[in-house]
Amino acid sequence: MNSRGSWGSKVGFILAASGSAVGLGNIWRFPYTAGKNGGALFVLIYLIAVVIIAFPVLLAEVSLGRHTGKNPVGAFKAIAPKGMWKLIGYLGVITGIMILSYYAVVAGWTVGYLFKSITGKFQNITNQIAESNFSEFISSSFLQVILLAVFLFLTVYIVSKGIASGIEKFSKILMPLLLAILFLLLIRSLTLEGAMKGLEFYLKPDFSKLSPKVILDAMGQAFFSLSLGMGTMITYGSYVSKSEDLPSSSAWIAFFDTFIAIIAGFIIFPAIFSQGMNPAGGPGLVFNILPVIFSKIPGGIMFGSLFFALLSIAALTSTISLLEVPVAFLIDEKRWSRKKSVIVVGLITFIFGVPSALSTGGVKFFSKLPIVGKSFFDLWDFLWGNLSLSIGAFFIAIFVGYVWKASKALIEISHGTEKFRFASFWMISIKFISPVIILLIFLSFIL
Ligand code: TRP
Repeated sequence: MNSRGSWGSKVGFILAASGSAVGLGNIWRFPYTAGKNGGALFVLIYLIAVVIIAFPVLLAEVSLGRHTGKNPVGAFKAIAPKGMWKLIGYLGVITGIMILSYYAVVAGWTVGYLFKSITGKFQNITNQIAESNFSEFISSSFLQVILLAVFLFLTVYIVSKGIASGIEKFSKILMPLLLAILFLLLIRSLTLEGAMKGLEFYLKPDFSKLSPKVILDAMGQAFFSLSLGMGTMITYGSYVSKSEDLPSSSAWIAFFDTFIAIIAGFIIFPAIFSQGMNPAGGPGLVFNILPVIFSKIPGGIMFGSLFFALLSIAALTSTISLLEVPVAFLIDEKRWSRKKSVIVVGLITFIFGVPSALSTGGVKFFSKLPIVGKSFFDLWDFLWGNLSLSIGAFFIAIFVGYVWKASKALIEISHGTEKFRFASFWMISIKFISPVIILLIFLSFIL
């Protein structure tokens, strides 16, 4: 295990895993997905999904990783050497590359917005100007591809440095700072004129909007936000020591991640409604409204720049974890060097990222694909960021519950913890609740 590296300190795992979990998923994807799905009802289902499905799956992944000390493919192989289970690991490796390919495009937007903010582009702007700025920005092909390349390069560089020295260092002081700016934004947004309407949208569920699609989106978002369903947490778990208390660390990670997403919603929706904008505006939602809020805060240039810098770093600690999965696979299973693995995977990711970078207006074909009718970016986000993660989570639950066996997993989970109070809840969730609900949602689409 030491040759693969491990976390340098006891808090290292919590920091790094929260670094993976907290990212654009919380601040960009959660608000726009909630907005698209009618607001409060989505939020409610999301919270339920985190508690009864995502948290148990998180614990399952981390304990599987710690028990086997392996990447996802190796972990499945270690417990079930024969049979098809390792295919779930392979699916995870591919999903990591595919999610990274478009995630890095959005991460590129945060870097672009950092520069716009520093150069004062967001001073005294209205929401119309902010919206036209954004659409001009994302439809500039050259800039989009460059920003994608820059962000992937940064990710590749850090992952090439290896686990403890690379990943951990970046997760330490910066998150509390991000939280501080979020609170500043929160206060400003809540005190805008007309903020109440946004709060109502965010907090008052309209049960007539309930549909399988809302549940699928909420569940998919919970997996995405907690970095589940593709083996990120198996991989991170493989670097955890036996003395770490897995239930309490996992609970902290889930709580912290959910807290930040919820705060982001409290910032975005009051502001959106106060400006008379459409909450169902899609992936651009956050980028259209944040500059408007900053322009209404004294010292907006400074706070805005700091915010986009921190958001870029939060995105970076997530892209690192996405890249780490295929890289750990190549190191462990194919005996490649870390450097070679990182470079090859980085290049493949870039190639798949280009269509996403060009699909936000730059190139017509990718912006509205024939037959599917949506952009390449939206298609990728749905296929990999939602479907594949849900399928992965389903099989991980089945695998841990029945193949490895929940009772054996519980022994692994108990190392390092005094007493796991929710053991029976966890067991019921992993064996019954999680797989059944995921399956039902899928069936409701097919039937
Ligand atoms: N969870 C991260 C976010 O919210 C993104 C991420 C990192 C991720 N690793 C992942 C998503 C693995 C799905 C699977 O921004």
